[in-house]
Amino acid sequence: MTTNPEKLDTLLSEDRAFAPSEAFKAKANFNDPGIYERAAADPEAYWAEQAQNLTWFEPFTKTLEWNPPHAKWYLNGKLNATYNLVDRHRVGERKNKAAIIWEGEPGDSKVFTYDMLGREVDKAAHMLKSLGVKKGDRVMIYLPMIPELPVAMMACAKIGAIHSVVFAGFSSASLKDRILDADAKLLITADAGWRRGNQVPLKNNADVAVEDTPIEKVLVVERIGKDSGATMQEGRDVFWHDLIKAAPSDPFPAEPMDAEDILYILYTSGTTGKPKGIVHTTGGYLVGANTSMRSVFDLKDDDIFWCSADIGWVTGHTYIVYGPLSAGATLVMYEGAPDFPDRDRFWEIIEKYGVTIFYTAPTSIRTFMKWGPQYVERHNLDSLRLMGTVGEPINPEAWMWYHEHVGHERCPIVDTWWQTETGSAMIAPLPGLVTTKPGSATRAVPGVAVDVVDENGDPVQPGAGGYLVITKPWPSMLRTIWRDDERFQKTYFGKYPSIYLPGDGAHLDEDRYLWILGRIDDVINVSGHRIGTMEVESALVDHKSVAEAAVIGRSHEIKGQAITAFVTLKEGISATDDLVTELKHHVVEKIGAMARPEEILFTAELPKTRSAKIMRRLLRDIAEGRAIGDTTTLADPSVIDMLKQQYSDKE
Ligand code: PRX
Repeated sequence: MTTNPEKLDTLLSEDRAFAPSEAFKAKANFNDPGIYERAAADPEAYWAEQAQNLTWFEPFTKTLEWNPPHAKWYLNGKLNATYNLVDRHRVGERKNKAAIIWEGEPGDSKVFTYDMLGREVDKAAHMLKSLGVKKGDRVMIYLPMIPELPVAMMACAKIGAIHSVVFAGFSSASLKDRILDADAKLLITADAGWRRGNQVPLKNNADVAVEDTPIEKVLVVERIGKDSGATMQEGRDVFWHDLIKAAPSDPFPAEPMDAEDILYILYTSGTTGKPKGIVHTTGGYLVGANTSMRSVFDLKDDDIFWCSADIGWVTGHTYIVYGPLSAGATLVMYEGAPDFPDRDRFWEIIEKYGVTIFYTAPTSIRTFMKWGPQYVERHNLDSLRLMGTVGEPINPEAWMWYHEHVGHERCPIVDTWWQTETGSAMIAPLPGLVTTKPGSATRAVPGVAVDVVDENGDPVQPGAGGYLVITKPWPSMLRTIWRDDERFQKTYFGKYPSIYLPGDGAHLDEDRYLWILGRIDDVINVSGHRIGTMEVESALVDHKSVAEAAVIGRSHEIKGQAITAFVTLKEGISATDDLVTELKHHVVEKIGAMARPEEILFTAELPKTRSAKIMRRLLRDIAEGRAIGDTTTLADPSVIDMLKQQYSDKE
């Protein structure tokens, strides 16, 4: 939770409000305000009704079975996710509609209609089957943002195999941890990826990652070709294009899956060093993803939807793959970076394809603000009609900049709060119904019950803050942590029985609007990416020169939070600038570039309680230049003065 009172004051003195325009309201999918009350009165009926937007092979016989903390939704219902994403759109009007418009790094683009996509997915499913993949098997996917990524996910889902996508920015060590935890036999990767004109050596990383794991086969997409430097290991590695060529061209029958069968595992960071395998199931997850496309994003058949996230994170799973395709949308998928070849790349793409709904992260918006409006102004953005944000709290200035410079004061903004665990947007305005306030995610979506509670679990009054909670089950909720149900129960339902604890602090204003304040645990949010402080600390102490490390997130103008590490060195090791560089590099090697500490400070001691617990709260105060909080529990209070001195000397 933000401990910075100034930040809270700025947020809460916000009195600007933006009501939906009459024109938007009139056409909105959800424009009956009674929906909130009706859904709250009978959430099961609401979710049963929303589920009718999917195609079921066999109808469900019961909507919900809730044995806290375990939920089952759509009992006995049978369906297949890929059938819902692609096959059902291959007949009728959407057959030749563009499904995926893929924009690669400059010079590369491709359009897949629903029919074409269906054929690709079927061939890929045949290919996976020929490699021995069966229902329930785990398939790891470590690919850049190329069409083969969603195709591979959908091929898995068509067979009933469980995919686990690992963001291509993760290191080989992180990939290996996830392979071992998921116990996967097949890894799908690429020879290399493109990033700002440079190559990312995915296959080389994969080679290191699969050593001493159950991986038997590595399926390699050729993105770069000969220049990639990737080598193939005889007997283990096979090229995607070779197997695709050999695959039969007849349709691949969709495996009828139980609504509660696992669709995917996606790893995310928690408060321990070990990432959690978040488990999502077929029916509930898909209903959540599909419903939010129609409600929060007001999706219509002629929209061009662009979510700028990477599919390696949950935002990309839900709002590039499962949500838009299940709703029969045309989506844009972009491989590259926002500033390559130039800083107007996003706006160029919006203009080029006539994007109507755009979804991005506050950190990107703050970067665009820093670059200045001239890049946006180069392009005609008249096609836009709705914009969203996700991943971290959006500060009102960034919200206003987005509203003025991108949305031209015409487009509603949906600030969507959710998590890997929640599967789909939980708190967000429905754009035709809810008046927005810059910086507030407003209220829970229909059918989702959210509250802010105090330490005892009692709801706080308007005007107060506390723990954000979700008080009732919802379809797209995680079902468990892969092979660690105990951790699932403890992490999310350990504080308040039967009530889901997301780990965020929130403030409820006088109008009952929700203002998300950030994490209350040892998780840092860097540019919308969740990183556990323990993961970074483990990476640091893994280095031969490090004795101890304490990692905190401090406020950062662009990234939201930045990683600061306080490190004590082993006897006889000198604190040099070279060592700082080496340690940063070590963290990148161990986790990935997103976990690189912004700053590393060497110190002789860390502030600890008498029971030897590191007091990160005090380190945060130091890094943010605030008055130091209560130090009475410190074993040695002089450590703080020393650290403060060191920190200011550094600046
Ligand atoms: O702290 C919240 C923040 O991101 C966390 C979830 O991270 P992850 O599982 O990686 O999923 C990110 C994208 C869904 C949350 O616990 N967060 C996400 N969206 C918002 C947010 N904080 C404030 N406002 C948001 N709109």
